[in-house]
Amino acid sequence: MCGIVGIVSNKSVSSSIVDALKKLEYRGYDSAGISTLNKGFIDEKKCSGRVENLEKILFENPSIGDLGIGHVRWATHGVPNKINAHPHSTEQVSVVHNGIIENSDKLKKEYESKGYIFKSQTDTEVITVILTDYLKTENLIDSIYKTLNKLIGSFALGVIFKDFEDVVVGARRGSPLAVGYGHNENFLGSDSYALKTMTNKISYLDDGDFCLLYKEKIEFYNFDKKKINKKIFELSNEENIAEKGDYKDFMSKEIDEQSYTTKKCIHEYLDQSRNKINIYNIPINPSKINKIRLVACGTAYHSCLMAKYWIEEFTSIDVEADIASEFRYRNVKLNKDDLYIFVSQSGETADTYAALEKCKKRGLKTCGIVNVVESSIARLSDFVLPIHAGPEIGVASTKAFIGQMMVLLLLTLKISKDRNDLNENNYKKLISEIKILPSLIKKTLSKQKEIQQIARDFINAKGTMYLGRGYSYPIAMEGALKLKELSYIHAEGYAAGEMKHGPLALIEDGMPIVVLAPKDRFFEKTISNMQEVIARGGKVLMITNDTSEILNENIRFKFQLPDTDSRISAFLLTIPMQFLAYHVALLKNCDIDKPRNLAKSVTVE
Ligand code: AGP
Repeated sequence: MCGIVGIVSNKSVSSSIVDALKKLEYRGYDSAGISTLNKGFIDEKKCSGRVENLEKILFENPSIGDLGIGHVRWATHGVPNKINAHPHSTEQVSVVHNGIIENSDKLKKEYESKGYIFKSQTDTEVITVILTDYLKTENLIDSIYKTLNKLIGSFALGVIFKDFEDVVVGARRGSPLAVGYGHNENFLGSDSYALKTMTNKISYLDDGDFCLLYKEKIEFYNFDKKKINKKIFELSNEENIAEKGDYKDFMSKEIDEQSYTTKKCIHEYLDQSRNKINIYNIPINPSKINKIRLVACGTAYHSCLMAKYWIEEFTSIDVEADIASEFRYRNVKLNKDDLYIFVSQSGETADTYAALEKCKKRGLKTCGIVNVVESSIARLSDFVLPIHAGPEIGVASTKAFIGQMMVLLLLTLKISKDRNDLNENNYKKLISEIKILPSLIKKTLSKQKEIQQIARDFINAKGTMYLGRGYSYPIAMEGALKLKELSYIHAEGYAAGEMKHGPLALIEDGMPIVVLAPKDRFFEKTISNMQEVIARGGKVLMITNDTSEILNENIRFKFQLPDTDSRISAFLLTIPMQFLAYHVALLKNCDIDKPRNLAKSVTVE
């Protein structure tokens, strides 16, 4: 989960590399570095911390050269200091790497015995050393090829060479890598967004591919060293829009966009005049689906948990939701009559990709639900459903979660309708509620100030709990994840009915507790669970569409949601969860878009 850039041009490249690194900072921001080729020698500069630190170094001591590579790091091997920052260079070679080399210890020993000395604690440095060693006896292509064949693990690489003054090399196995086409210059980047100001013509490396970028051409090779051609994609304008505008941070912009993005997503999949869901080419006939398996990580996993409730409610199909890092290694009984759905905002999450690969290798029917349509998961899936949320830059996922839920809901209803599992009235009722959701989201967004006021209750809390039952339980989990990642306060999402089986012991006088209590069939039970918490000193923030006054005296604060069909209340419940995490983090002075220790796109295991 680092970011890689490479540029070969007929003009100085360092400022363009730095600009692209800034766009990649969402992938990692604990150190940064750059190498350029300047009059036959490799000029490497690096530092711990953000790209702005690197900029200061370059301001004092500019890097010169028409060709170079850059890196932002999310540490896997070795603490985030200057020595471990990328690039890793010898006199001959300079390398930037995203991913993990699993056999790096073994390779280190092998090359130490040949007399090489390693400076860093990283796994990456072995790549530099192996390449340097091969170049003593082999030509460029064979050196790259043989080096790649020695590496076990996942990686995307960018490399420059002292003796090959006109080339930047890129290679991919497991971690994403894009190339961009320019006039008399070509580019390498961890994603197309990094290259957006330089080009809108992009190709993607597939697993095992490597490429040689020259000023006027790009050569692609596959894992067999055979020259190959690549499809060129033209990026749409939307992919080019990812600016903060007047917003303080990307997260507040992305939260605010949710009414619009939901509307857009509904518009893409729902024929509103005929109440028809336009999702075709499902890779398996809906009436023949035996089971649905949903696989994802983090927030995307929570959207799968939500879909599990919907699939159980609206269809007669058996359903499981799995965390990808578990699913990929478990002895899951895979079946050709099951539909496998992989959900990912980035479409690059290593565990989700590996889980998809596992199913593809067995010839199973796969569906990818992604935000980034050119992503690896989208390209590998048999069938792709984009969520149409537009670029999401804040590390904490917000509008993508709402988009994932919407696509999963519409897919569920489509399958349900095709199987005649849902009666016409029920279907029509849900569709009419879906149509008005964007306006209800807008209404809920307008109540941000109320949550901002209550946020202060949480800043000194040792910990907190989010409680929900039924459809609210996945949202409780998502709310807790959001608070953890943004404000570093310990938070857990619990099924409210589970409290008495242990977690109730944690409740102390004054502990802030969030209770999600939409007026659904669980409402009374949730209220009883809430009373148990209040009786033990919990200070409750209740989120509900219930309008009765009875409970008010016991509750610290009640956030009133607009009324909606309880089966889809998840969309509205999510919004105060996002606001709460955002405002607590803001009050604690946390970095909203770049929380500590995290990165947006998790391309390592
Ligand atoms: C969400 O706020 C997180 N940052 C994280 O859990 C994220 O949802 C997860 O890493 C999965 O990412 P993906 O959707 O890009 O696959």
